[in-house]
Amino acid sequence: MRGIGKRFPGVVALQNVHIEVGAGEIMALIGENGAGKSTLMKILGGVHQPDEGAIQINGRDTRIGGVADAIRHGIGFIHQELNVLDNLDIGGNVFLGREPVRGGPLRLLDSKKLHDETQVFLQRLGLDVSSRTPLAQISLAQRQLVEIAKTLSLQARILIMDEPTSSLTLTETQRLLEVVKDLKTQGVSVIYISHRLGEIEQIADRVVALRDGANAGELARDEINHERMVRLMVGRDLKQFYDPPTHAPRSDGLAVRDLRTRRFPNRAVSFEVRRGEVLGFAGLVGAGRSEVAAAIFGVEAPLTGTISLDGQALRIRSSRDAIAHGIFLAPEDRRRYGLVTLMPIRENVSLPALADYATVGLVRREAERGGTSAVCEKLGVKAPSVEVWAGNLSGGNQQKVVLAKWLALEPKVLIFDEPTRGIDVGAKAEIYKLMRALAESGVAIMMISSDMEEVLGQSDRVAVMHEGAITGILERAQCSEEAVMQLAVGRQ
Ligand SMILES: Nc1ncnc2c1ncn2[C@@H]1O[C@H](COP(=O)(O)OP(=O)(O)OP(=O)(O)O)[C@@H](O)[C@H]1O
Ligand SMILES: [Mg+2]
Repeated sequence: MRGIGKRFPGVVALQNVHIEVGAGEIMALIGENGAGKSTLMKILGGVHQPDEGAIQINGRDTRIGGVADAIRHGIGFIHQELNVLDNLDIGGNVFLGREPVRGGPLRLLDSKKLHDETQVFLQRLGLDVSSRTPLAQISLAQRQLVEIAKTLSLQARILIMDEPTSSLTLTETQRLLEVVKDLKTQGVSVIYISHRLGEIEQIADRVVALRDGANAGELARDEINHERMVRLMVGRDLKQFYDPPTHAPRSDGLAVRDLRTRRFPNRAVSFEVRRGEVLGFAGLVGAGRSEVAAAIFGVEAPLTGTISLDGQALRIRSSRDAIAHGIFLAPEDRRRYGLVTLMPIRENVSLPALADYATVGLVRREAERGGTSAVCEKLGVKAPSVEVWAGNLSGGNQQKVVLAKWLALEPKVLIFDEPTRGIDVGAKAEIYKLMRALAESGVAIMMISSDMEEVLGQSDRVAVMHEGAITGILERAQCSEEAVMQLAVGRQ
């Protein structure tokens, strides 16, 4: 791709960008949120047309007029935001639009072939479910693997992976990286985007960094390390990442006793999060962490158990009740539950706080705009104004808007479900600072995370879950990757 330029209303997304990737090469594309990575790849994938520049494939000038065109040229695209359909089963999603048919005049769907072929890809990715499972029944991580299977089944020669591991945990990620290495040996060109720099160190042959829509530099295989990648992306070194607490937590806070959820009816969970502390929740995908969060936030009523705040038992029958008690949840799947993509940032942020901005039922627009802008600025949300649609923001900036929404209220308990998924290093540091500041101001924070570095760095204590039960709660001094992993796989 040579001299690529792309503008959106109010934003220069790309300016004179060059990238190259060889056959059998894994090229990592890095950059802060909003740097232009996805936009560049959407141009290669035929989703957007560039305003300037040219694309060559195998030395030949190639115009990519649309998505179908890209597929014809052997370009496969695993999107950052999932494109799977809830009302189909897994196989139906993988072969959507290219369903195999039986011979004969009626061209009937060859359902057996569809599922048999899908099953092969699922196995390769280590996804242990039937191809006939409806999509609505599988987790976010599993959906991401379905999205990956869908693209692998196209047998692409150029494969774009835009944050393929953002919802995967350790084991699933390792498995995917093996698949990527395998594709490399088959001569596939891979463009790999990730904010998890450890993965890039593991597999990339070359790193290309974008900053503010322009090339910011490259690293050859033997130059790739954490510090150099950060410097290329952010333009400076980042020193302190995690702020330790400055004083001990208070004795009051959230207490959960014998909570049982529908998914794990035979396991009871008890724990406390004190005001002033960050309690990390670690565990493998499906360990039951999100179910506990959903019960506390009133999304799904628990089978049994009590939830109390500052010593007072609460009745939480809906999220409205939870919010009324000052309990908030920043959910994991932000596009589905955290954000209204077809609303401006301003309305997204003010939505739960609308009462604060209203006088006799009318929203005071100016106050709303001012309040929203202030929170967004604090979090470094990168957007031309708070009036742009949330759905047009880069992935990481969408996550910041979700956080901004809850910070605009004054929470007593905050539950973060994978708070920094898809967020760049610089913004991560800001979010950790903010989380720490909230804790210091007396908020009890529950942080569900699959990012081991984050769990160990940011938590004051770590609760580890395995198959619906808490297998251990570690004090900061006892925390290590080894200790957390042992408990996560059920060894106590
Ligand atoms: N459809 C669109 N309409 C308007 N602006 C857009 C659109 N798509 C992207 N942008 C803007 O272009 C810039 C680059 O966004 P892009 O999604 O390419 O960033 P990114 O590097 O992929 O970031 P992230 O790491 O957060 O995914 C951002 O400022 C974004 O808000
Ligand atoms: Mg992106």
